[in-house]
Amino acid sequence: MRIVSGMRPTGKLHLGHYLGVLKNWVALQESHDCHFFVADWHALSTSYEDKLNLKELGRDLVKEWIAAGIDPAKSTLFVQSAIKEHAELYVLLNMITPLGWLERNPTYKDQLSQMEHKDIHTAGFLTYPVLQAADILLYGADMVPIGEDQKPHLEITREIVRRFHHLFACEVFKEPKEMLTETSRLPGLDGRKMSKSYNNAIYLSDTPEEVWEKLRRAKTDPQRVRRNDPGDPDVCLVFDYHKALTEDAVVQKIDADCRAGTIGCVDCKKICAQSIEKVLEPIRERRAKLDDATIDEVIQKGNEAAHAEAARTMERANDAVFEISCHP
Ligand code: TRP
Ligand code: SF4
Repeated sequence: MRIVSGMRPTGKLHLGHYLGVLKNWVALQESHDCHFFVADWHALSTSYEDKLNLKELGRDLVKEWIAAGIDPAKSTLFVQSAIKEHAELYVLLNMITPLGWLERNPTYKDQLSQMEHKDIHTAGFLTYPVLQAADILLYGADMVPIGEDQKPHLEITREIVRRFHHLFACEVFKEPKEMLTETSRLPGLDGRKMSKSYNNAIYLSDTPEEVWEKLRRAKTDPQRVRRNDPGDPDVCLVFDYHKALTEDAVVQKIDADCRAGTIGCVDCKKICAQSIEKVLEPIRERRAKLDDATIDEVIQKGNEAAHAEAARTMERANDAVFEISCHP
């Protein structure tokens, strides 16, 4: 089973990325043939004005992946913009994609209204689902792990496949299925969505001291003034972290102790810090062993493997379009 998924290189990853996406990728690579790529062209679709060093951000992202447990011996890791076939297939697919499919895309409309601080009334932003379709189809993905917001893009991908097959009378591509990954419910330390722009995240690269400092300041049940005041874990952010990270039996005990007023918030946070460290420590250890040269080698090898596959698919697509000859 071939899995393809991409991530935009926009800076360091946080615990929400790990629980929502990476943990799933790490598990998938044990049983599936996985291709994970740095979606740097996609990053440009919304950040073309930001002067991002995408080369460096791409390398950093792959380093985060490997530190988080993605194994380059099991998964193919590559950089989208290094494989020119993504752009080539994007051109062909753009020719046959009706504007209405893109304009009606609910994710497109949402993002236009949410990102008012950016001018994304561009061809690139409108058509990025077409680029995404190219990403997926070049590698014959059976399954694409994505979050809920990306569902319309998978639907567009399948529609493009059917239209291509119909127009060129040749079944070049595979229709991919989505694998919905539950977006992590882990809120940021201020109760809002965990996000770099809110400065409320715990990063995979944080030191134990940084994690503790952030946790220490996190708000708990505001009704608890004294240590033995009964509390309500359901209104406490720290408890959300426990639910996501701490063993069930311990979570139940914390729930009961909090309600009875027999555990203090500082002690509760210390247990929480331990749960976070259980995730971050192995990531920290792997990261310490990685240097840029090693990452560049991984990317180089991944790019070569990806390119060979992409070129084969592209040849069949071009045959269908330019020679009306079919090699399904
Ligand atoms: N569009 C995705 C996002 O913004 C990233 C992405 C690009 C992707 N190409 C992909 C995801 C192909 C899955 C498959 O998160
Ligand atoms: Fe939150 Fe724990 Fe304090 Fe209860 S004891 S309010 S769950 S930090």
